[in-house]
Amino acid sequence: MTGPADIQSDRLLRRMQHMAQIGALPNGGVRRLALSAEDQQARALLRQWCSELELQLRIDAWGNLFATLPGRSPELPGVLCGSHLDTQPTGGAFDGVLGVLAGLEVLETIRSHSQQPERSLTLVSWTNEEGARFVPAMLASGAFAGVFDVKTVYGALDQQGIRFEQALESIGYKGSDTVRASEFTAYIELHIEQGPILDQVKQMIGVVEGVQGIRWYDVTVTGRETHAGPTPMGMRVDPIPVACQLIQRLYNELQTFGDQARLTIGQIQTLPGSRNTVPGTLTFSVDLRHPATDTLFRMDQWLNSLIDEYTMGSRCSVTLEPMWYSPPVLFDPVCLETIEYAAASRQLPYRKMVSGAGHDAVYVNRVIPTGMIFIPSNEGISHHEAEYSSPEQVVAGTRVLLDTLWALANPENA
Ligand code: HGY
Ligand code: MN
Ligand code: MN
Repeated sequence: MTGPADIQSDRLLRRMQHMAQIGALPNGGVRRLALSAEDQQARALLRQWCSELELQLRIDAWGNLFATLPGRSPELPGVLCGSHLDTQPTGGAFDGVLGVLAGLEVLETIRSHSQQPERSLTLVSWTNEEGARFVPAMLASGAFAGVFDVKTVYGALDQQGIRFEQALESIGYKGSDTVRASEFTAYIELHIEQGPILDQVKQMIGVVEGVQGIRWYDVTVTGRETHAGPTPMGMRVDPIPVACQLIQRLYNELQTFGDQARLTIGQIQTLPGSRNTVPGTLTFSVDLRHPATDTLFRMDQWLNSLIDEYTMGSRCSVTLEPMWYSPPVLFDPVCLETIEYAAASRQLPYRKMVSGAGHDAVYVNRVIPTGMIFIPSNEGISHHEAEYSSPEQVVAGTRVLLDTLWALANPENA
């Protein structure tokens, strides 16, 4: 049974532009924090498009949105595709949304195809992939995969002290539908690379074999609040110099773990945060990453030993709170072979690679055989308003997704 020859590129690109208007920022980016009003608007637009296609909509307890196109044998396990609609605070117009709208385009293309696929096809939009509002990242796909329990998910707090459950209810997405991993034989996620590799080697498709490991922490340096004026420097217990020295040590010593090691300090906060009060505390986030489990473990040990050293040697106290650990993962060989065959059959230059960014596929991979497809990110820029992939790259990635999903939904034809 042959699948559809092509997607409707203009329809897909039009939808990408339409969705990018929701939470649009002045420099071309998007701000759609998880469970925000903008997220609610984006979900409403997606649901409208799904309803126009008469897809069967379900919303689970985490706000994950599932839309199903029934196959000839709806009683058999089907195929899942998708990604996320939430973004970073100054995010781009492709991260996550590409996988959702490309999946929608594939379902619409297959829906109007002369032959119905054997297995059902389901599109999913996962809640809170970014972890920019609620920590950790990939929270709702992790809940779907049984990694995070209700208490962890519903009790997660944003920086204003709002609980995940409260925010979920406020946008009307605390669903009651049950969606089980056992309903699916495969999950495929199309995503932008968010790094420089495909762009540098001028290849169109990444066959993503796995995702590197991630460890998140909060470091708190506690001193003593005091007046910025009368207090002599020698009498201060100021967390700033301790934090600066510690952060400098981290950057100076990171290269001992090789050039694949990654360190990011994205958040630094002082309290009380008044310009004429010496801070009582300084808290900063740490994001460590490496593809190898043992090296990432050694990086964890290294961070802990540095904290111990600064705790002993300073009048300030220094604490380290582990916030999240996502181990390196390898995706399913059958999914990857199917993706590779689809890219090769369309004569698209491709390469096998590991993802530097985390994705919902990391957790879905624990309960459903999973694979990922990348398209290039211009100059490797992402989590930035200038994030960009060309229409040609968006269309090529969606064509590979189409062929991959069609093959997986017709296993009897394999
Ligand atoms: O942090 C990540 O890698 C992903 O973008 N949430
Ligand atoms: Mn993403
Ligand atoms: Mn992201």
